[in-house]
Amino acid sequence: MKTSAKKTKEKKREARPEPRQMENAALESADALGFDASLLLRSSVSSSLPIRAKVVKKEEENDLVSLLTLDVQMPNAMPGQFVMAWRPGMDEKPMSVAEVKPSLQLAIARAGPCSERLADAKVGDTIYVRGPLGKPFWPVGRKWLMVGGGYGFAPLRYLARVGMENGIEVESVCGARNKGLLMRPGPGKNHVTTDDGSEGKKGNVMAVLQPLLSSQKFDCVYSCGPERMMKAVAEVCKKHGVKSQLSVERYMKCGIGVCGHCAMGGWLSCVDGPSIDGEEALANPAFGVYHTDRAGRKIKY
Ligand SMILES: Cc1cc2nc3c(=O)[nH]c(=O)nc-3n(C[C@H](O)[C@H](O)[C@H](O)COP(=O)(O)OP(=O)(O)OC[C@H]3O[C@@H](n4cnc5c(N)ncnc54)[C@H](O)[C@@H]3O)c2cc1C
Ligand code: FES
Repeated sequence: MKTSAKKTKEKKREARPEPRQMENAALESADALGFDASLLLRSSVSSSLPIRAKVVKKEEENDLVSLLTLDVQMPNAMPGQFVMAWRPGMDEKPMSVAEVKPSLQLAIARAGPCSERLADAKVGDTIYVRGPLGKPFWPVGRKWLMVGGGYGFAPLRYLARVGMENGIEVESVCGARNKGLLMRPGPGKNHVTTDDGSEGKKGNVMAVLQPLLSSQKFDCVYSCGPERMMKAVAEVCKKHGVKSQLSVERYMKCGIGVCGHCAMGGWLSCVDGPSIDGEEALANPAFGVYHTDRAGRKIKY
């Protein structure tokens, strides 16, 4: 019994894709697109200290999300990376880089006390940001599909803009629970879904993704949003033989690989990710199954 269990374990290990191999294949195209190819390797422990940032523009993207433009130039922050954002009196929270032109932008959804405090910052207020941190998305091929749920569409919109400026063909699917929670469209062709049918196609992003994958050949599907949505996206991509990349959010504290709080199995979201190959994520037994709360307790999805 023991030997067969060992064999099954070894087989499973062999079946796992080799992430570094996939990344190496992407290094050349990353350079060509102006991406910093060195960022595709596990991000090293950063010693960056928080930078003082003033809010210079504030837009309400939807009923929950405020888009803050900060007076911080962070041109080297790539799509898929994040910053730790902080206002005195609260914990630091990870926020994806939503845009770097004309300066750093964060799309902040009111999810709890800290994100509310950040989203409530007014023009002229000061917040602090530390970063850029984490591993960005990496370019694969010349035809991309973005699939975003809720505020998760923000980093994909930035990726779509960079891709299109570099001659990549980009289409997007943007989903939300209802019309009031939809993010603004990105560049290129956009498809919209809402769970309640108040705008675009009724249903979740899969309602549009499945027919798109059946009718067109994409080189890579990039996804960011709720973890169970991304799991479904990665599974359907695998079924269609299409590469996928996801941005996996886990409860973060240090953001630099020290505390271990953001672990998904042996994978650390803050330094090994948040960007991850879809098949690598599917091979992780914690993906889409449970996450941890502030105290490190396991919570089932
Ligand atoms: C890499 C990364 C990028 C992110 N990008 C964005 C973004 O662009 N815009 C945005 O609005 N939110 C983003 N988030 C999520 C954001 O950090 C949390 O929603 C926020 O921290 C909620 O904190 P809170 O104190 O307001 O709410 P809480 O009451 O603490 O939590 C509300 C919910 O958010 C989860 N959460 C709380 N803190 C974290 C954390 N540090 N990391 C992950 N989940 C957490 C909780 O489990 C809970 O489900 C990102 C998270 C990660 C890991
Ligand atoms: S947040 Fe501390 S190791 Fe990732």
